[in-house]
Amino acid sequence: MHSALHIIQDEHRNLWRIAITLDRLGEDIAGGGALEPAFLLALFDYLEHFVDAAHHRKEDEHLFACLRQRDASAIPLLDALQAEHREAPARVLALRQQLADCLHGQGQASALAQGLRGYADGLKSHIRREEQQVFPLAEQALSAADWDAIQQAFSSHQDPLFGDAASAESRELFHRVASLAPESVGLGGHSGGELASHQDWLLEVDALDSSYGRIQALSSISLKVRRGETVALVGANGAGKTTLLRALSGVQPARAGQLRFAGEDIRRLRADLRVRRGICQSPEGRQVFGPLSIEDNLRLGGYTQPRAQADSDLEQVYAMFPVLKEKRRLPAGTLSGGQQQMLAIGRALMGRPKLLLLDEPSMGLAPLLVEEVFNVVKTLKAQGMTLILAEQNAFSALALADRGYVLETGRITLSGGGRELIDNEQVRAAYLGM
Ligand SMILES: Nc1ncnc2c1ncn2[C@@H]1O[C@H](COP(=O)(O)OP(=O)(O)OP(=O)(O)O)[C@@H](O)[C@H]1O
Ligand SMILES: [Mg+2]
Repeated sequence: MHSALHIIQDEHRNLWRIAITLDRLGEDIAGGGALEPAFLLALFDYLEHFVDAAHHRKEDEHLFACLRQRDASAIPLLDALQAEHREAPARVLALRQQLADCLHGQGQASALAQGLRGYADGLKSHIRREEQQVFPLAEQALSAADWDAIQQAFSSHQDPLFGDAASAESRELFHRVASLAPESVGLGGHSGGELASHQDWLLEVDALDSSYGRIQALSSISLKVRRGETVALVGANGAGKTTLLRALSGVQPARAGQLRFAGEDIRRLRADLRVRRGICQSPEGRQVFGPLSIEDNLRLGGYTQPRAQADSDLEQVYAMFPVLKEKRRLPAGTLSGGQQQMLAIGRALMGRPKLLLLDEPSMGLAPLLVEEVFNVVKTLKAQGMTLILAEQNAFSALALADRGYVLETGRITLSGGGRELIDNEQVRAAYLGM
């Protein structure tokens, strides 16, 4: 999927959580629960500032405008969606009015409850149509140049509507919403809904066990990864991060449980066949072949690919890591730690991953190089790669991940949005030293 669509999809994920929240609030209020005016007002502010002013505009002015020109058959659908965009501010105003009426004793809580649930339903159906209908049409009809232009507009830092200043403001509004959220509705990372259809899960792990002899290293691990998602695995030394990644790539057997990749059961599939399916790993400790040249190390990573393709893939890796090109004839052992890490990532990329497993890419590197490695991860994420990132460097990993899982002695003890885990007291105490 193009990164412009990922940007919209990420925003949809937040909106979906908001919709679920509105829905639960409506349910609470209908069931006689107390009104939380401050929370409701924060939600309305967020809808106005972010959804109406930034998110919809982004779609209208760039993605939809371009698709209109490229595919006339999309026009009726776009007309309907844009009519909803135009009506959205009035719907929020109506909710504000219903809330004010309730607070002044002039309105029925049940009407507000109904209003909130109606808004939530409308939002969900709107998001579904965009993702299930507009996205595929756009993928088909837009040219590479179109995508570049849209991407450039979306990433303009100065844009008054969705540039840096505006997104800082929406983030703040979202945090306000989250901080005011009553326990009963929460705003956790639970998916609570059917936005992610079955096909969106690239990886599904269920109740996975793995042992070294009699030592059980993984107990009943369940996790899922969506296409295009970056998932962080954090946990202390010996928690089982490496074992889990190795169980996914197939070099470590899984004794029990389910393992599905792109819908296929792969638990008993050999490691080399998993590489062919697109599960590629950059292992802990890099494990480059020191005496071999850098280029040969990279070519090893592409052994599953046709020869003709390897040459152009090699150029792409070199474009990403120019230092590797410069030194391509030298033995890999002559590279610094940071460069060897780039080589290990480059080697994994040569396998054309659909899912890239990165085991402690920042391990043992000086702070400046750590940042460089995380920048590489960010770039891959922006290109739409699906990533699992195991890190002891929990803060940096969670900061860039969409979601994270905390592992302790072979079990998952916590999971949630990346930001949400950073804010979690338990995580802060245990892993962030705060
Ligand atoms: N080859 C092995 N033989 C026996 N036990 C092992 C082996 N490798 C790992 N273990 C054990 O399995 C458990 C999980 O180790 P693992 O290396 O997966 O943890 P980790 O989270 O990656 O740790 P680190 O942060 O140090 O990389 C630990 O108790 C470890 O001692
Ligand atoms: Mg490890």
